[in-house]
Parts: sequence; C-alpha cells; structure tokens
Amino acid sequence: MHYRQLNVLLVEDSEDDAELIVRQLEKAGFTVRYNRVDTKVAMRDAFSDRIWDAVISDYMMPNFDAIAALELMKEIGLDLPFIIVSGKIGEETAVAAMRAGAHDYLMKNNLTRLGPALERELRDARMRREKKIAERNASELQAFKNIDKLHRQFLSNVSHELRTPLATIKGFATTLLSTDIVWSEGEKKDFLITIDQETDRLTQMIEGLMDVSRIESGELHLDRTICGVREIFDSVKNELHRLTAAHKLKVSIPANILPVYADCMRIGQVLVNLVDNAVKNSNTGTVVEITVSQTSRCTTLSVIDRGKGIPAELQEKIFNRFYQYSPVEGNNRGVGLGLAICKGIIKAHGGRIWVKSEPGTGSTFNFALPLANHEK
Ligand SMILES: Nc1ncnc2c1ncn2[C@@H]1O[C@H](COP(=O)(O)OP(=O)(O)OP(=O)(O)O)[C@@H](O)[C@H]1O
Ligand SMILES: [Mg+2]
Repeated sequence: MHYRQLNVLLVEDSEDDAELIVRQLEKAGFTVRYNRVDTKVAMRDAFSDRIWDAVISDYMMPNFDAIAALELMKEIGLDLPFIIVSGKIGEETAVAAMRAGAHDYLMKNNLTRLGPALERELRDARMRREKKIAERNASELQAFKNIDKLHRQFLSNVSHELRTPLATIKGFATTLLSTDIVWSEGEKKDFLITIDQETDRLTQMIEGLMDVSRIESGELHLDRTICGVREIFDSVKNELHRLTAAHKLKVSIPANILPVYADCMRIGQVLVNLVDNAVKNSNTGTVVEITVSQTSRCTTLSVIDRGKGIPAELQEKIFNRFYQYSPVEGNNRGVGLGLAICKGIIKAHGGRIWVKSEPGTGSTFNFALPLANHEK
C-alpha cells in the first residue's frame, strides 16, 4: 500500500473516538499526524501552530460544536476539507452542517467511507487552490498589462507634448541661423520672443510632469503649517493679478475664516491653476471670482467664472491627466495637467475638489480643506 502523510486536526472531546478515527485513516493508507482539540481557543492555537491538510470534527461537544469550528475556519480564511464524524446525526442537522460548509458527514459506527471521502475532499481542495492561484495569476497579469498600457500612453502623450514646443524652438532657431534670407531686427526679435515663450512652456511642462509623477508615486511632499486663507491668497496675489489682467478679479475672504492646516505654497499653486483655467475658458472683461466659506469641519475655496462651462459628462474626466476638450488655441494653450495636479494636491491634504458647471453660464471649481483643529 502507498502511505501518504496526513496532518489532520481532530475536533473531538473523546480520546477513544479520536483513536478510532486515526486507526481508520491508517487503514486507508495514511500516515497520520494529528492534534485533538475540543474548544475554540485550542482550535485557533492549533491553526497558528501548524499547516493542516484536513479537519475531522465531532458534531456536538460539551464546549464546542462543528458549526462553530467551521465558522472559525472561515474566519481565519482557510479552505480545508472538513468532515463531520458523529455518534448520531439527524437529517436536519446534516443539512445544516453541509450548508455551513462541511464537505461530508459520517457516523462513528460506520467509518469505512472515511478514507475515500477524505481522498476525494483532499483532491477537491487541491483543485480549488490551483484554480484560485490561476485566477490570481490571471488578474495580476491583467493588472500588469493595464499598467504597461498606461505607461505607454503616458510616454506617448509626454513625447508628443514635449515635441511641439521643441519643434517650434528648433524651427525658429534654424531660420535665424540660415544665411539665405536677411531678416529685419524686428522679425529677429519676434522669432526670439517665440523661442523664449516656448522655452518657458517646456520648463512649465516638465515641472508639471514632475508634479504628476510625484503625485502618482505617492511622493508628493507637503510642508504643512497652520496658515490663514488670506495668507495663501497673498502669496500668489501678484500672479493672480497678472493672469486676470484682462478680466475682473473679485475676491471675498470673510474676516472670521479659521486657518487651515496645509502646504501654503501648494494650495497657492491650486488657486493659480484654477484661476488660469477660469481665464483661459472665459471671455476677456468677464468676472473671475474667488470666494471662501467655512463649516465646522472644513474650509471651501471656490473659483467662479462666467465662461463657456463644462458639459456634465466631462466634469469628472477633466481631472484626468492630459484630458482636454476643445483646448484653448495659441500661446495660452495648456497640456491638460493642471487639474490632475490640483486633484493630487488636494487629495494629499485629505481634502476634496469638485466642479459645478453649466455650459454657456460658467463654472465653479471648489476645493475643501480640513480645518487646522480637525487635523492636529
Ligand atoms: N473653468 C473652466 N471652464 C471650462 N473648461 C475648463 C475649465 N477649467 C478646465 N476646463 C477644461 O478642462 C480641461 C483640463 O484642464 P487642465 O487645467 O487640467 O488642463 P489645461 O488647462 O488644458 O492645461 P494646463 O493646466 O496643463 O496648462 C481644459 O483643457 C478645459 O477643457
Ligand atoms: Mg489648466
């Protein structure tokens, strides 16, 4: 006979019955190593002590029962063959045990079926394990494929975006260097201005890409302090006035607004990005407004424009990197990173950013930050 090693946990209050089961298993060709437990605590300890192949359990014991043993096994996350061996078991209790997850049940006075039943259940459990591993491998492979696809998309977007200003710079520099045509001083200056602007655009783009990469790898470093909203606004005031030079900027920050616990520079960057978007997507001369409100938990800053608005179905998508719809043409055009960066910065603060917008009427971008006393 071919002997197989079997580590079996016996949930049984009688040593005699345990020996009966072991003898039966040995007759069926197993070399048995076993432990006998008859309480929940002992069973839990046994599970943490050793790796088991199967559990054979009495149905009812003075301090424990098979249903509770099954529950404990499920709670621990084990999927082992579980066979009930009982002195007497009625049809109803047998059904209840099978429903609870037992694989088979046998009477103590007729154990001839125990060996074959255990063989079958060990085989089924091995197949379940193999199936689970195969499923996990397949889903990991799919996840890798998705990441790989995202990386390739990202690289292709980045190369495309970097190539555009580079091509312009190269084109104008080559033109300036060519000796075929004599350019006037005015024309030369125009070319140099374009080269200068496109270089700034490249620098901004690279900074944006670095931010996105920090956000996505969870490495965005926040230098948080308790700071007032007015303080944040003042730190970017000049930039906001420059951006809105052709618009009307209205700012209302109530005096009693409590400070937030935030990276002042990063929140300033969010404000600048939102005001930049408001300006790019609304007509000159229209109002761009910054308002602040407060509840007992958070402070909400809003940037409101009277521009073209955003269709409802795109209001989530615009926060994805590189997502742009009907992008602004000319020198003002962006890359589609601004809102992705804003979202990353606000999420890193434990806050929330969202938009309310109606096409043709305008948009309100809101972001909420936890109050200083809620964070610390
Ligand atoms: N206030 C707004 N009104 C209307 N559309 C907006 C507004 N803000 C953003 N959008 C839309 O969302 C898109 C994504 O904005 P996002 O700030 O991420 O990129 P961008 O402004 O195009 O480029 P970048 O910010 O990188 O310079 C914009 O291209 C625009 O279509
Ligand atoms: Mg933008």
